[in-house]
Amino acid sequence: MTTATPRAMIALAMDSLTEIARQVSNCTDCPLNKTRTNTVPGDGPETASIMIIGEAPGYNEDQQGRPFVGAAGRLLDQLLRSIDMKREEVFITNTVKCRPINNRDPLLDETAACKKYLDRQINLISPQVIVTLGRYALSAFMPNAKISNVRGIAQNVNNQIVFPIYHPAAALRQNKFRQIISEDMQKLSTLLNSKGDPGPDDNDPKSQQLSMF
Ligand code: URA
Ligand code: SF4
Repeated sequence: MTTATPRAMIALAMDSLTEIARQVSNCTDCPLNKTRTNTVPGDGPETASIMIIGEAPGYNEDQQGRPFVGAAGRLLDQLLRSIDMKREEVFITNTVKCRPINNRDPLLDETAACKKYLDRQINLISPQVIVTLGRYALSAFMPNAKISNVRGIAQNVNNQIVFPIYHPAAALRQNKFRQIISEDMQKLSTLLNSKGDPGPDDNDPKSQQLSMF
């Protein structure tokens, strides 16, 4: 009689970012699979303390199979550098892993079909903070929240800290968003340095917001 668990069973039970990426590359669960060039599962280490979630791959991302490699990505890199972080330290992905044709907004059905991959990535990485870029990524966590009300304020969503900011593409279109995103990045840095615990300070809007949940 053997009591050892076969290796294959252990491997089956263990998820990994590579396995998720492999399944995404074969996925046909929503119509976006028909028009994609490459899937864009996301990039970064499983040990990342921050997960950054954008909307959807654009032209360059679809061509290269990597997230945020175009103009918005360059701005994202700058924003990360402004708080002494490098892209290699964070995990970056999107609410859908395939490009919507002509960069249209992802449809609710597409985001819903793709959510299982995002959920598995979050489970594996278990980040200190999830940073959502723009209203699509925010709505994956807080469907009724208005980005202009919650951006730059840490939110507790099912015991996961979510930090919404505007999408860098908005900053490329309008300068006023650039200033706001830069300020919110500084707040993110403060939150990270507090180890995700905004502390007991009642004058701190972050802790008030968190205590609401
Ligand atoms: N914009 C996004 O939301 N995601 C990308 O990957 C690139 C641009
Ligand atoms: Fe599958 Fe997501 Fe691509 Fe749709 S967007 S085909 S659900 S991987």
